Amino acid sequence: MAGLMKYIKNGDKKKLMQELGERVENCKRCELWKTRNKPLVGDGDIDAKIVVVGESPGYNEDLQGKAFVGESGKVLNHLLGLAGLQRNDLYITNVLKCHPPRNHSPSRKETDACIHFLHEQIGIIEPKTILTLGKFASREIFKMFGMEFSRIGELHGQVFMTGKYAEKMKIIPMYHPAVACYREEMLPVLERDFSAVKGEL
Ligand code: URA
Ligand code: SF4
Repeated sequence: MAGLMKYIKNGDKKKLMQELGERVENCKRCELWKTRNKPLVGDGDIDAKIVVVGESPGYNEDLQGKAFVGESGKVLNHLLGLAGLQRNDLYITNVLKCHPPRNHSPSRKETDACIHFLHEQIGIIEPKTILTLGKFASREIFKMFGMEFSRIGELHGQVFMTGKYAEKMKIIPMYHPAVACYREEMLPVLERDFSAVKGEL
């Protein structure tokens, strides 16, 4: 997306991220601020080479304001290990910054209201690789770079290069780790995908 460049500002990354965090804390652009406990801006190293993008904070993430601390977090940690990664190698965030009640899927309206925060975060961090978890995050990141998204079932585990950025980035769409919590047979698929990208990261 041509517009991404406008988010890359010269300045202190830490200060920019702090200022973004304050805007998220005060954000009322969609209805989710009314029911959230803590917004989850993002977690981890802002100098990371890899950004992981999930869908939205779950129940536990909402209580703690931290990314992937619940059941799907346990699965994610296991999968990251297979890819040769640890949490402190990464910056982790989500498409939505506030927990949707009963974990409803992000609506178009909520996503459109919130997505500029994710664009800004990627502009500030300028990672080399973006790992997207699940169809919502994958679709939004593909869209951000003007890339065509089909289905996560088709694209999962593949490595894509962005063409519309000062420095090219790798985008790697993955199934969301939460699917392994309710569809056990998906765990080996996730394990295979994460093991396979080890050399790419
Ligand atoms: N699921 C997500 O997509 N993100 C989180 O932070 C936690 C669970
Ligand atoms: Fe704002 Fe995003 Fe929270 Fe909606 S989900 S209130 S747009 S920060």
